[in-house]
Amino acid sequence: MSGIETELRGTAWIVHIARPERRNALDKSAWQGIREAVEAIPDAARSIIITGGTKVFSAGMDLKMDNPLLMEVGMAIASNDAAQVREIIVWLKHCLGALREASVPTIAAIEGPCLGGGLEVALHCDVRIASDSAVFAMPEPRLGFVADVGGTTFLNRLIGPGRASWLITSGRRIDADQAERWGLVEQRCAAGSALEAALGLSQDMALGAPVAMQNSLKLLRAEPPGALQNETEAGIRPILAGEVMEAMTARMEKRAPAWCPSEA
Ligand code: COA
Repeated sequence: MSGIETELRGTAWIVHIARPERRNALDKSAWQGIREAVEAIPDAARSIIITGGTKVFSAGMDLKMDNPLLMEVGMAIASNDAAQVREIIVWLKHCLGALREASVPTIAAIEGPCLGGGLEVALHCDVRIASDSAVFAMPEPRLGFVADVGGTTFLNRLIGPGRASWLITSGRRIDADQAERWGLVEQRCAAGSALEAALGLSQDMALGAPVAMQNSLKLLRAEPPGALQNETEAGIRPILAGEVMEAMTARMEKRAPAWCPSEA
């Protein structure tokens, strides 16, 4: 079970992250499940909505040790294998990349926490709708990671380098008001109504001609050449430095991580 469910409602293909017991954190099968769900879009669909329901969008990477991805990271660290780390980051990007390869517009309908990898899911979408309950953060450096699944690249582009730096380097959370002021979300709605608002927008999206829409999306999604690859490379060294393992251990032991000063 990937913890990802799908439903066609009108012309909208709804991809639902459904792991409430882990606050919709994404383990390996959920990352893979997002790609599979997006690729399974029926012919009748004219937009994709990704949602976590009314309580939480996603708590990001599943940080529990039964997530096979963390075991793979652990093995790569033990063998100091940069190629294996690169493979993991590229694979994560491949999973979310389905949202940017989709031939129809994609909407993130966000309620509650939208953190780390969860925010990266939302950043892969063309449009973000947030309810009053939404909270955002990109705390990867606190966990020994770089936000390397599109997070750094897309945040920079969407809200500018200063605000992206503030979010990533502080690890602080911002509410829906601040996210809207900063341009991190394009539409606001009352708590509990993000999916309804996204379904409303999807009706207008369905009025566009399919070929014109597809080619518009190609232009809108274009990234500076090399940006995503640079981000992948920047993500390798911190993982091999083992900081992520200290972060996971500290999390389990409910203490603050003890970072070792080391060369970057
Ligand atoms: N990975 C794995 N499990 C997670 C998780 C994650 N990222 N986030 C939450 N959970 C689990 C908790 O461990 C807990 O499980 P348990 O009852 O077995 O211990 C369960 O989800 C509920 O978490 P809890 O913190 O009690 O829920 P909450 O509603 O009070 O708070 C969050 C929800 C998302 C705000 C909070 O869990 C949180 O801050 N999580 C960490 C998010 C994070 O750092 N993400 C960045 C990853 S890149």
